[in-house]
Amino acid sequence: DAPETLKVRPPVVTIMGHVDHGKTSLLDAIRQTNVTSHEAGGITQHIGAYQVSYNGKKIVFMDTPGHEAFTAMRARGAQVTDIAVLVVAADDGVMPQTVESINHAKSAGVPIIVAINKIDKEGANPEYVMQQLTEYGLVGEAWGGDTIMVPVSAHKKIGLDELLENILVLAEVSELKANPDRPAQGVVIEAKLDKGRGPVASVLVQKGTLHVGDTIIVGPCFGKVRAMTNERGERMKKAAPSIPVEILGLNDVPEAGDILDVTDEKTARSVAEKRLEKKRSSALRANAKV
Ligand code: GTP
Ligand code: NA
Ligand code: MG
Repeated sequence: DAPETLKVRPPVVTIMGHVDHGKTSLLDAIRQTNVTSHEAGGITQHIGAYQVSYNGKKIVFMDTPGHEAFTAMRARGAQVTDIAVLVVAADDGVMPQTVESINHAKSAGVPIIVAINKIDKEGANPEYVMQQLTEYGLVGEAWGGDTIMVPVSAHKKIGLDELLENILVLAEVSELKANPDRPAQGVVIEAKLDKGRGPVASVLVQKGTLHVGDTIIVGPCFGKVRAMTNERGERMKKAAPSIPVEILGLNDVPEAGDILDVTDEKTARSVAEKRLEKKRSSALRANAKV
């Protein structure tokens, strides 16, 4: 076989952290100022991930709650995150889910960037947060460590540029690459049954390029990609590595973490059938135990 040609791909970033520390607010603030296109007509859809563009470079943010994304996908052996942004509220400090997030990221081998949020608040104490984090092995660069820590305020839009710049720097040193010139492989971020459109799956392409018309197998489901849209509802003909898309055309609804592969129709049908059988029999066994 000829060696694969790897090309740089955008980083996929998951925002993690304790309840109410400002994950959604931070994403909203980033998104408001850095959406990839401002074209009219696109209806924003929730597809579990979205792209922003900063200094001409793309960053893909996972929009699903950090823990769910990590747990569901890692349970199926899928790794979707390149960088974890750990949000810690400067007025609240390290809390149980902060620690859980650190552990998830560490066990997945994903580098962490800390965003110390709500620095606009009275009682905010970023230094204290930095000190707390040292107990979990996260030592800020200012203190001789190698963890990037950025003080931010989602409300006042402070520190967002520094955060995005650091994400891009870390992405660059991580040398994130994939071969776009092969049949696509991806992972399901979310899926649902839509009354009008049938099974709808949000997929993050990880290798290769996914095209409309491709025959796919997704966990125990299969089909042909009938249509693809991005998070703004714009039609896409193809999707390269790191690009999240919503796809139509599956025969059933897959689960988050299911792997998508492109194959021929005969293989798709027979492999899907086998997987479905296996899934059913393990469900039967699980029920029998109760
Ligand atoms: P969950 O998804 O429920 O875990 O919460 P979250 O981490 O997404 O936090 P969310 O963005 O919902 O923010 C929680 C609360 O903190 C809200 O009331 C926000 O308005 C507030 N908040 C978020 N960021 C900031 C900030 O930078 N400054 C201040 N003062 N408040 C903030
Ligand atoms: Na909240
Ligand atoms: Mg939230």
